[in-house]
This record gives sequence, C-alpha cells and structure tokens, in this order.
Amino acid sequence: MSQTESAPAGLRSRAWWDNSANPEMTALYLERFLNYGLTGAELQSGRPIIGIAQTGNDLVPCNRHHLGLADRVKDGVRDGGGIPFEFPVHPLQETGKRPTAALDRNLAYLGLVEVLHGYPLDGVVLTTGCDKTTPACLMAAATVNLPAIVLSGGPMLNGYHNGMRTGSGLVIWQSKRLLAAGEIDYDEYMARVTASAPSIGHCNTMGTALSMNSLAEALGMSLPGCAAIPAPLAERAQMAYDTGRRAVAVVREDLTPRKVMTREAFENAIVVASAIAASTNAPIHVNAIARHVGVDLSNQDWQRVGRDIPVLVNLAPAGEYLGEDFHRAGGVPAVMRSLLAAGHLHGDAVTVSGATVAENLEGVPSADPAVIRPLDDPVTARGGLLVMSGNLFDSAIMKTSVITDGFRSRRLPGPEGSSVFEFRAIVFDGPEDYHARIEDPALDIDQDCILVIRYTGPVGYPGSAEVVNMELPASLSRRGLAALPALGDGRQSGTSDAPSILNASPEAAVGGNLAILRTGDRIRVDLDRARVDVLLPDEEIAERRARHEPPALENQTPWQEIYRATVGQLDSGGCLELAVSYQDLVHTKGIPRDSH
Ligand code: FES
Ligand code: MG
Repeated sequence: MSQTESAPAGLRSRAWWDNSANPEMTALYLERFLNYGLTGAELQSGRPIIGIAQTGNDLVPCNRHHLGLADRVKDGVRDGGGIPFEFPVHPLQETGKRPTAALDRNLAYLGLVEVLHGYPLDGVVLTTGCDKTTPACLMAAATVNLPAIVLSGGPMLNGYHNGMRTGSGLVIWQSKRLLAAGEIDYDEYMARVTASAPSIGHCNTMGTALSMNSLAEALGMSLPGCAAIPAPLAERAQMAYDTGRRAVAVVREDLTPRKVMTREAFENAIVVASAIAASTNAPIHVNAIARHVGVDLSNQDWQRVGRDIPVLVNLAPAGEYLGEDFHRAGGVPAVMRSLLAAGHLHGDAVTVSGATVAENLEGVPSADPAVIRPLDDPVTARGGLLVMSGNLFDSAIMKTSVITDGFRSRRLPGPEGSSVFEFRAIVFDGPEDYHARIEDPALDIDQDCILVIRYTGPVGYPGSAEVVNMELPASLSRRGLAALPALGDGRQSGTSDAPSILNASPEAAVGGNLAILRTGDRIRVDLDRARVDVLLPDEEIAERRARHEPPALENQTPWQEIYRATVGQLDSGGCLELAVSYQDLVHTKGIPRDSH
C-alpha cells in the first residue's frame, strides 16, 4: 500500500498540498517548501505534517535546550511516518522579561493560535518548560483543537552550595533575608544564587515551571513520566524521540485536546496540584486552559476537589528536595499511582499516550518514600488552596501548605483550633513604593502587620507581577522574624514559601476595594470562614470609593494597551476575554481562505 492510500482521511494539510482540488494554488503552496530540499512527493504523500512549536531560544535559557531536543523530536516524527516542521514561539522567560512574562503569555498564545490555524499543520508538539511557556502552548492548542502533545524541557540538575541544596528561586528569597539581616555578605549571596542554576533546564523547585509541566502530564497531554526528567539526561532526549513518534499517532487517532482535556482530566490535575504542592500560579493557568478548551472550571473547583488532598511530594519550597530527586523517586507517575489507588483520580481519563490514566499507571513501581511520601505519612495533611473572599475582593487564594507555625501563633484568642487573625495594614502602591518606604521608621512595622501591595494585577502592572511576597524591614529580620503575612492583587513566585493572600480579583486598577485601603486600617483574616475583611463600616467604604481617583496607567508599548483593554482577572485565568468565544477552530472555522 502506498503512503497516500494509508493516510487518514481529512488531514487538514491536504487543503494546501493536495492538487486535486486547486492545482494552481497547490503549486504556489508547494514551491517555497521545496526550496530547501523537501520534495513534492513527500509533501503530497498524505503523511501527517507535525509542527514543533519551539519555545527555546537565546532569550529563554530555561528552554534553550529544546533547540537540540527538536532534532530527536524530528527523528521520532519521521520514524512515526510524519513530516516535521519546526517554528518559533514568541519568547517567554520568567525572570528576564520586563515588566512581566505574564503580559506576554497571552501574546505568545495569540501568535501560536494564528500559526496552528493558518499553516498546513495536522498536529503539533508543544515544547514547554519555563513558567508561561506551558500554559501559552496549551491554551493555543485548546483554542485551535489541533491534535497536540507536550514535550517538557525538564528541570535543571540539583544545585548545591557548601553541601546544601540550592533550589531555584527559593534560595534567592531565603538569601535575600539573610543579606538584609546582615548574616551574609553580597559575595556569599551571589555565590548561593548562581549555585542554584547548575545546568540547562528550568527551575528545579516545585515552582511554576515544574508545577505546570507536572500538571500537563496529569492532564494527559504529555507521555507518562515526561515532566520530571532533568533536562541534561539521556532520558530527556529519548522522551523527545518518543514524543515526536507518538505525535504522528495522535494525529492518526484524531486525539484532539478536547478529547483529552475533559472535566475529569482537569479534576485529576487539581488533585495532582495539591499532592505536589503546586505553585499558586497553577490555578490561573489551568483555569485559562480550561476556558479555552470549553471546560467550566473555577477556583471553587480547586478548593472543592483539591483542598483535602495531602502534599505527598517533598520538594522545595514546601519540602526538602529538588527536581532531580523527584525524577529518581518516580516523578508524576509515582504520585498519580498513589492517588489513583486511594480513589482520588479519574482512572478512565484518556491521555495522549492513547491509553487511559489507569492503564498508563499499570506496573509503575512504588515511589521512594523520602521524596514522594505515602498518603498516610504526607508532608502536609492538606495541600490545597483556600479560596478567600470578603469586602476587599471577590476572590483571592492562599496556599495552605506554606502557612507556618509562626503565622498560626499570631491567631486571636478563640475556640481551640480556630484561625482568626487581625492585622494592621501597611499599604504600598506597587514594588517601587514598597522599596522606597519599607524601611521608613514612621510606618512602625511590627509582627502584627500585614503588608499589602496593590496596582500589581493584570491591568495594573501590566500582566500581574510576582511581588506579593515582600521582604520584611531589616529591623524585623534582625530580630529573627522570617516573614509577615502579605496581601495583594499581584501574584507570588511559585518558588516562594511566604504565607500570602494572592491574586485578589478584582484588582485595584479596575475598581477593586484594595484601592481604598489605607495604612493603619485593621484587616481581619478568618481562615475558618475563608474571609478577608477590612474592619470599616460600609458607609466609610462607600465614601472612600466615591472620593477615590484611580491613578493613570501608562502604556509603554502597543501590546500593553491592547492587553489592558482585553484582559480578564486572575480568578478567571487572566485570559484575553474576546478570545474565549473562539473555540475548537479546526471544526468551527475550518480551513482559512487561500492566501492569493
Ligand atoms: Fe524559567 Fe524558572 S525562570 S523556569
Ligand atoms: Mg516566577
């Protein structure tokens, strides 16, 4: 049988390259792709065309090794019977992009939607890694509903400094405190920070990168075991080959994102998020992916499905170990094996492997219990998120696994086990204001304060910034205090260990009540009722709202203006709101019209 005869019906690439319908246009579409050595015969053979969405480049060191891995993906695609086409994705690097990489997540999403829809592609390998690359790619695949498979880049090797593990991000936040307290000098600070990045790969703590790649696997969008393999290992390149090969089969089986990322798959992801103590950025990104794939998911689902799932994975910042240890202990499959056995997962959810979750987990060995703890001896009994509301915002989240004993010890007197707190607010308008005033003795900051930061959400910043985890004034650090609670309409690094109330929606810049808060106001945090309230009469709040003049927002680029005009709030994923109505493009919109 020739390859043409064995090709599945309805490959969308044939609308470009099958000359039976439109020979003049076919010639135009074909000729430019032949100019580097492809032949007309192979492009017209009816073999699936597999895009490789390349997120690696010199601006994105966390994903840069995907440039090399793509060769193994291509080998896999060829051996699987497809033809690979690699193309770039708008660069998204978490620490290097100003003002935020979060601003560009939706830009990369938009660009990728246009590529997947407008070129002769039958399926796509999504190369993921650094924080925002994973959601941007999955959001675009969700919108277009082109058969897709994730290839994670994997974490860096463990970093060490004087025998101590130096986890990405976390060592920076910890060492900043020591530097501020005068316990280490700048050279030692720099030595610790640079020791945390010993190899190619993304952050090796359970920050947003490893969280989102683990959740892509939990969603069924990557091959089992893909997320945790460290970037430099041979297994990573072998996974690249297997992923490329499987991509062709995913097309032949028409295993589209909407068939994989179902409501059950999202509930599996939420359960796994608790068990790995995922980044507080995970609900934002996962909710955004869900909206684009047409699944109604909210922070309330996170609390309902995930709150009582224990933390099993003993990785920093919630625990001790790093990505290399996670992989050796069994990675995501070992975690899911325990969760499935305890009845916490939908075992019949289909994955891109072509098998169900339960089938994928058959024969997976039990985990190294030091790194992946058993359910009856977890790192923390409850790993989920608390979704808070009150008179300052409609929705904010708190990661319960990082609420410290020090924080709990400040609770108000009350019944045994109650968790109600009152704090004096110290309010900052963004990180510049915070840095300018945090050491001001007139603020009289003490351990009964809560640090509040506002105008740091999607519209305010723009993009929403990871600035809610604020360091203490040096005077308090020197007295041995590790952290104060914080509250804000921005985000917090997934590598942070601070007890913070984050992602407050609506943000101050769109009229949320954080805008009318003043330094000195009393704030009550009631963990039992999941409420945060400023202790002011309603009339006072209304009066302050009437007198409030919002600060002017300056756009520095055209994209910032477009973004601010179209972005939603963090509780619903920070999506481009107008994009959400575009669903399942390959089936609802068909092939775009001819280019000439
Ligand atoms: Fe890129 Fe953490 S900064 S993965
Ligand atoms: Mg970050």
